[in-house]
Parts: sequence; C-alpha cells; structure tokens
Amino acid sequence: MDTLCTVAECNECDFSKLSEKPRSLNMDRERQRSFDERSLSELSIGFSPRVMTRSADNANANANANANFSRLVIDHNPDAPFSPGRRSGFNTPRSLIGYEPHPMVGEAWDALRRSLVYFRGKPVGTIAALDSSEEELNYDQVFVRDFVPSALAFLMNGEPEIVKNFILKTLRLQSWEKKIDRFQLGEGVMPASFKVLHDPIRNTETLIADFGESAIGRVAPVDSGFWWIILLRAYTKSTGDSSLAELPECQKGMRLILSLCLSEGFDTFPTLLCADGCCMIDRRMGVYGYPIEIQALFFMALRCALVLLKQDDEGKEFVERIVKRLHALNYHMRSYFWLDLKQLNDIYRYKTEEYSHTAVNKFNVIPDSLPEWVFDFMPIRGGYFIGNVSPAKMDFRWFALGNCIAILSSLATEEQSNAIMDLIESRWEELVGEMPIKVCYPAIESHDWRIITGCDPKNTRWSYHNGGSWPVLLWLLTAACIKTGRPQIARRAIELAESRLLKDSWPEYYDGKLGRYIGKQARKFQTWSIAGYLVAKMMLEDPSHLGMISLEEDKQLKPLLRRSHSWTF
Ligand code: GLC
Repeated sequence: MDTLCTVAECNECDFSKLSEKPRSLNMDRERQRSFDERSLSELSIGFSPRVMTRSADNANANANANANFSRLVIDHNPDAPFSPGRRSGFNTPRSLIGYEPHPMVGEAWDALRRSLVYFRGKPVGTIAALDSSEEELNYDQVFVRDFVPSALAFLMNGEPEIVKNFILKTLRLQSWEKKIDRFQLGEGVMPASFKVLHDPIRNTETLIADFGESAIGRVAPVDSGFWWIILLRAYTKSTGDSSLAELPECQKGMRLILSLCLSEGFDTFPTLLCADGCCMIDRRMGVYGYPIEIQALFFMALRCALVLLKQDDEGKEFVERIVKRLHALNYHMRSYFWLDLKQLNDIYRYKTEEYSHTAVNKFNVIPDSLPEWVFDFMPIRGGYFIGNVSPAKMDFRWFALGNCIAILSSLATEEQSNAIMDLIESRWEELVGEMPIKVCYPAIESHDWRIITGCDPKNTRWSYHNGGSWPVLLWLLTAACIKTGRPQIARRAIELAESRLLKDSWPEYYDGKLGRYIGKQARKFQTWSIAGYLVAKMMLEDPSHLGMISLEEDKQLKPLLRRSHSWTF
C-alpha cells in the first residue's frame, strides 16, 4: 500500500472478509484503493524535496493504522464476533449479531425516505425540513450542505443512485447564468439550494435554484462547491465507481469551482476571504474574513480534487495550483489558527507594532483584545483552531464544524487532532451539555450581539447560530471521534441525542447554555438532524465507513512545512 493508506482502508481489508458486501463492491474497492492512493508524492511538479523512503513510511503508516483499527474494534464491542450482517425491515444498514438497532433507527429511516425529493421520477435530494406547522420559507428546498449527511446515509446503506442523481443535477444548475440584481456571479458557483416546481396544468416539472439571490442577506454559498467535491469523492470511494468523477462535465465542474477559489488577487494569505453568512452559519454572525468552517472545507475539497482530477492538459495545471495552495494553506492554518495554552500565553505576552519579517506578532494582534472567557475555557491539555484570523483580529470562538473537518481532512496534525478531542472531553458541559453539539462557543451577548449580529432576533444568545446546539453535527463529531480512536465519546453523545431527538420530532437546533430547550424557531423533522443521527450510528457500527469522509495525512506536507519555515522566517 502507498502513503495514503488510511485507517479505514485497512479496516476494509479485514471487514471485507467478514461482511456481506456485494461482490462487485468489493472488487470495485480494490480498484478504488489504487485510485485513492494518489498523493502529492506522485505529482512530479518540482515539489518533491527528498527521495521518499517509501517502505519505511508505509510500514509506519500501516502500523499506526492497524493499531488504530484494533483499538476501534476492541472499543466497539469487546466480545462479540463480527457477523456477516443483515438488513432490518426498515432497510437499515448491516448490523452486528447481538446488536439490536435502536428503535429510533427505523423511525429515522422512515423519516429520511419521506423527505426524498423527486425530479421527473428520479430521487434527486432531500428536502431541508418536513414541518408543516411552520412557515416554509426555503425549508422546502434541497440544500447542498444539508444533503451531505443524507447522501452519506444512502451511500453507507448501499444506495448510491440518489447521490449520483444529486451530483449530476446540481452540476447542471452550476452552468446556469447567475445574476443578483445586475451583477453576474462567477461561473463555478454552486447553488445553496434548489427546488422542483410542478406545473399541474401542463404536467411538467422544472428546477429552480438559489445561488444567494433569494437567500437572506443575498450571500452566495462558498461551502456548496466544496461540499459538492467532497461528496463526489465520497461517492467514488464508497462505490468504487470512478466513471462519474471522470465524466468530462464533472471534471469541468470541479475546475470551475477551483477557478473561483484559486484565483489570484490582492491576497497575502492562502486562506479564502469570505462574506458573513456564506456557509452553514448563513446570517450575520461576525464570521466574515477567514472563517474556520470555510478554510477547513477548502482544504478538504482541495485534497479531494487532487485525487479526482484527471491529469490531462486542463487538469494538470489545476493539480499544480492545488498542490502549491495546499502547502501554503496547511502551513498558515497550523501556525496561526491553532490555539492551545502555550499559544494563548504567547499571545497574552505579545508585543505590538512590530515591523518587518522578523515580527513575532505578525498580524499585530493587541493582547487586550483577548476575551475574558478564553482564559477559563482553555484546558491545560487540549487546543483548537480558532474562528478567524485577520489583521489585528482574532476570533477566539470555538466552532464545531471547522474543527471536525480539520480532523477529518488531516488539516490538523495527529497531535492537534488529539488536542481538539481532549478539549471537547474537558469542556463537555460547555460544548455538548444535554444535546450534541454547539455550533460555536460561547454565545455573543448584549452590546456585542447588537454590533456583531445587527440585533438579529433569531440569533439571540445561546440560540440558533449563536451558541445553539445542532444535532446534525453529531455525524461530524462521531467521525472525528472514530478517526482519533475515541468512539466512546461518540457513544456518549449519541446516547444524549437518543434521549430526546425522536421524542422532540427531530428539531433543527436546541437553545440554552446546555442545549436543553427545543430551539425558539427550530423546524421539526429537520432532515439533516435525522440523517446526521443515522450516519453517526452507521459509522460506529462499521468504522470502515469513515474512509468515505476522511483523509489521512499526506506525508509530503510535513517535510515541506519544515523547509518553508526556514525559508520564510
Ligand atoms: C438554516 C441553516 C443552514 C441550513 C438551512 C436549511 O438557514 O443556517 O445552514 O442549510 O437552514 O436547513
């Protein structure tokens, strides 16, 4: 196996002997393994600083992976043998003998299937929420980001067709001309959401998409394109079918997304400059600048594109640009977004007004801008990627999605990944409380709330995007737990969710410091709360699913990090 042999891939080797995967899938997986092994080291574009000591590196990677795997298996169920699995009446995924699926699993599958949206007879996505008691607004649409956990659930359950349909449909939408008032958006922008319009008189169906021109605040989604690429890799990885990604239109779709985010301009940072509200947090919440959610998704999408892009005339140029950007982004994020006790203490003692390349406090952060809460929040062991870094401004808030994606994409080093999990464990009450897990911590209140949110009545303290608890994030937390070898944390979080979610009719979010109350304006039967739960359950049951959504560290990034350190500073 090559440098990119992942924990999950190693798991698959063992699981495949024991589980009842359809044959063609196993054969496809063989092909898939070689497909996914492409790493930076194989791209001869002058970025290879040393001759790779492959066998030694690989031996280590495999040893680590196997160690992690045995930990997972033991942790999962110490005594029970693995069974070939079976399907329940609800079409739930394969299960272990002696492992009765939670009654909620069947209910969740039913609810997920009810949320399916069809276009000309084919399922193309899932509706955001099936709640008739509240005003629909745009919750009757298929959101790209919301569909991701649904897609993963279907892939894990051996139903890839809907995912393929979704990928192809959204690709068609990408090629639409997009205008907001008289201004035309970039060609590559993927929609935030779309819906199917039925004309009962003519008996026709048409799609309408929203690229931000109808969204509150009129912001285009930066995350949609990244999720689209990540999903294309998940589909390819899970089915072993690389023919979808290889289609000329898929290759072009990826290149268009990449053109938007790799374009050169006035930037001095490799991170991506964004407007407020351009991601999961789609309202003004002070996340403009370089929000961690987007930077982590950007990193992951670049890594996924690297394995999906063909090295033909057009693809090759992009591959080169991706590799360069990945190195710079990796370095920047790990160096400047990372906060632990030591780093916090260093910032606390920062000198200001330094000039020239010898500056330690490069962005001129004023120590007085450190918020009080962060000193109490920071545990002795642990750390996290902060919300935002820009000139003289650091947003110290903790964001769940960005930190989990940093672990899954290996933007975080192994040490950093463990530190993120250490922090979640030691700040369990604050971040998980009674419902997993806070979208961000802490909430902004009073004067700050007025200035930062513009007095947003939906984002009051400890509600919605402002410190609310979002069950959908359970799948990301679970994936991060499995990757770092701590499934017991995920199990604890899932138990909390199981005590409430079904009873409360799958709310979109919970409010309050502990996440005890169903959110003020939360939709019920929110599809991604349902799918997020299913994905979390399925990954815990069969950790090999993690491979769809996780990337191991590319060893080539490490030596370069050290090299660039000595060049630049
Ligand atoms: C809210 C969320 C957004 C989600 C949408 C549909 O606007 O902030 O992230 O995509 O609802 O569920």
